[in-house]
Amino acid sequence: MFELRGVEMLHGETRVLAGVDLVTRRGRTTALIGPSGSGKSTILRLMLGLWGPDRGRVLFDGAPVERSGPAALALRRRVGYVIQEGGLFPHLTARDNVTLVARWRGDDDDAIERRLLELAALARLPVELLGRFPAELSGGQRQRVGLMRALMLDPDALLLDEPLGALDPLIRAELQLDLRDIFRSLAKTVVLVTHDLAEAAYFAEHIVLLRGGAIVQQGALADFIARPRSDFVARFVSAQRTVALSPPRAPEAP
Ligand SMILES: Nc1ncnc2c1ncn2[C@@H]1O[C@H](COP(=O)(O)OP(=O)(O)O)[C@@H](O)[C@H]1O
Ligand SMILES: [Mg+2]
Repeated sequence: MFELRGVEMLHGETRVLAGVDLVTRRGRTTALIGPSGSGKSTILRLMLGLWGPDRGRVLFDGAPVERSGPAALALRRRVGYVIQEGGLFPHLTARDNVTLVARWRGDDDDAIERRLLELAALARLPVELLGRFPAELSGGQRQRVGLMRALMLDPDALLLDEPLGALDPLIRAELQLDLRDIFRSLAKTVVLVTHDLAEAAYFAEHIVLLRGGAIVQQGALADFIARPRSDFVARFVSAQRTVALSPPRAPEAP
């Protein structure tokens, strides 16, 4: 669904992406993983058309991703995006954060309310929290609101930048379970950034490991373990191996 062909990207003198070739599959989850600064967030921004590549091509459904104009707007309606740290508007309630774009688009009030309640159920956010501002929500609840906002217009694809990054372990495990159920039930194309290999394997069959703006290996977790393509891959896997081999568990019942 998303396709990057020979993509290079510079920030000033720094080469942030150095020839990335990547195809994500429709209806599947792809996980981008790698050390901090390896270019994961940059790839999501290119997929959404927030940035353009300096070289190469970025395609969505076979058409070039545009940065502005009607095609760019159309793309942003088909692709939901949850940015690193959530990115909720602090001065808007959860309800207004989620419904902003639909209202701006002029959707019918009843339809918006129906969709909002549907999403609250899906994201398991108690409806009585919808009137709260982001600062009055926990980190996990904020991430649920961010996910609801990204799903409001029923996009075909979902881009998530470290959606579980800032959460404590128990909340994280709980949200992992919910997120995986959501991805499966919606059958959307998902591209998810994480720096945790266990989490990548938990969500995705297609794992893409980046280093210094280049893909060093991609495939299933089993390939990374059995056939690491470089020393770096072997070290990356063994550093995370203890967690990689034990899948996250559901939190204990209280
Ligand atoms: N707006 C920017 N201006 C200059 N350099 C940037 C900018 N955004 C990111 N970079 C650099 O690009 C590289 C890749 O960043 P990023 O894609 O955010 O990495 P990751 O998400 O894997 O941590 C980093 O070295 C970062 O410092
Ligand atoms: Mg990042």
